[in-house]
Amino acid sequence: MIPSIVLTSKEQELRHLIVVISKLTKLPAGLFSSAEKTYIKEQIETLKQEVVSFNRLGYWVYLFFIKDEKDQPKRLESCRKAGDKVAGLLNGQKAIKATIYDAEGKSKEVLAFAEGMALGSYQFLKYKSEKETENTLKEIEIYSKALEEPDNKDTSHVSRVTHHDFRVTELNILLDAVARCRDLINEPNSYLTATVFSEEVEQMAKESGAHAEVLTKQKIAALKMGGLLGVNQGSHEPPTFTVMEWNPAGAKNKKPIVLVGKGVVYDSGGMNLKPGNSMLNMKDDMSGAAAVAAAVYAIAKAKLPVHVVGLMPATDNRPGMKALVPGDIITMHNGMTVEVVDTDAEGRLILADALSYAKRYDPSLVIDLATLTGSAVRAIGKFAAAAMQSNASGELEKLKRSGDEVCERLAEFPMWDEYGEQIKSELADLKNLGGAEAGLITAAKFLEKFTDYPYIHLDIAGPAFIDKRDSYRGLGGTGYGVRLLFEFFKKVTR
Ligand code: BES
Ligand code: ZN
Ligand code: ZN
Repeated sequence: MIPSIVLTSKEQELRHLIVVISKLTKLPAGLFSSAEKTYIKEQIETLKQEVVSFNRLGYWVYLFFIKDEKDQPKRLESCRKAGDKVAGLLNGQKAIKATIYDAEGKSKEVLAFAEGMALGSYQFLKYKSEKETENTLKEIEIYSKALEEPDNKDTSHVSRVTHHDFRVTELNILLDAVARCRDLINEPNSYLTATVFSEEVEQMAKESGAHAEVLTKQKIAALKMGGLLGVNQGSHEPPTFTVMEWNPAGAKNKKPIVLVGKGVVYDSGGMNLKPGNSMLNMKDDMSGAAAVAAAVYAIAKAKLPVHVVGLMPATDNRPGMKALVPGDIITMHNGMTVEVVDTDAEGRLILADALSYAKRYDPSLVIDLATLTGSAVRAIGKFAAAAMQSNASGELEKLKRSGDEVCERLAEFPMWDEYGEQIKSELADLKNLGGAEAGLITAAKFLEKFTDYPYIHLDIAGPAFIDKRDSYRGLGGTGYGVRLLFEFFKKVTR
């Protein structure tokens, strides 16, 4: 659970207060005594901090000074991070509720601050017997004249949710979706099998009004999804293939946009067993599928007028008795044959089947999200996804802009033909592993072979999971991709 955000019209009341402001001269009249004003001034001038705080009859007052930064994405990101910091202090003080006071009508900054507070308060405590570390903050109030008035630019949304608070409503929906995504990632494989994953997605569909269908092993076999079945061979658990669809009347796009997510609920590497510690966090190998499920959930809950389909192939990758071995040749859903050179390059096998399955929707665009390669992590680290595209450069530009705005950023890599040479096989149509270099690109070239539509591939192996807390991204599953996709789909509907 994360705190929910609500609007309030009560200006004066004793409570934990956070004043969001750009400079000292903008201090709202009547909010502070002259002694407090002097104190604030002193603190700002001597300590040069962005947050000043003091206590008032047991309640805390925080003043957050918005950075004088022209670049909006950078400025909003510093607001999210400050929100996380203040939420940490409030949780430390066992606060249940706090009010953000919008001193100057800076609604974007205030919402970003609230976003950071809410996401920074996320915890995964399901398996803790003692919950004494549980965060107390449950409600974030916003006092803002600007948010009570409709934002003219966003009138397309007015009919969907109530007039004055649709931005807050939408933000709550989105942040809940991020938390759901994080929960799925943080769940260990001892709970989250492929079957349980599909049940969780069905539940999310039910709650959001989207449609879900789970293809079980029998159907997957009938569809001859040799990639998904092959990876599943070494497991004691059956695979699933979950389809989640939102197709509202009045959708702005004629042809659907299809999202594909890698759902490897645990990646041991299979027969090419992962060495040492590299197996430890491999419950996160379904982060792509979790992001797809959570994005469709948010889109449906917010009733965005867009037709979107999520495809989530899921299995674990284990070295059981029947497991694939290096050298095996499998036949994929689209009839192509693949020489399995390395059983640890399993993600592309299950994604390839989903990508060819996507053709039946005649999509205008397909975007996949996958924790696909260690090579992507080495290339760009934890602060961006590696993006590659074919016939979708315009769409990728739009996606990159969305990524900058929500700080789930993308770095583009090339898809030149030469990289494709490395996945040619002597014995089959393709092999599932390229050379030692540019592994993130040869993986994308492999996937591209199964597409015939505008296509964007996002390798999220870096940003999906962090094992050290990083501001509002938290610890463990970050939910990377949910905010990115939601922002992208809002742009598509405009
Ligand atoms: N799931 C991993 C990729 C990964 C690595 C995700 C690190 C998150 C963090 C993928 O299935 C994998 O094992 N990739 C191998 C491929 C190799 C065997 C060609 C890799 O990148 O090391
Ligand atoms: Zn692997
Ligand atoms: Zn994997």
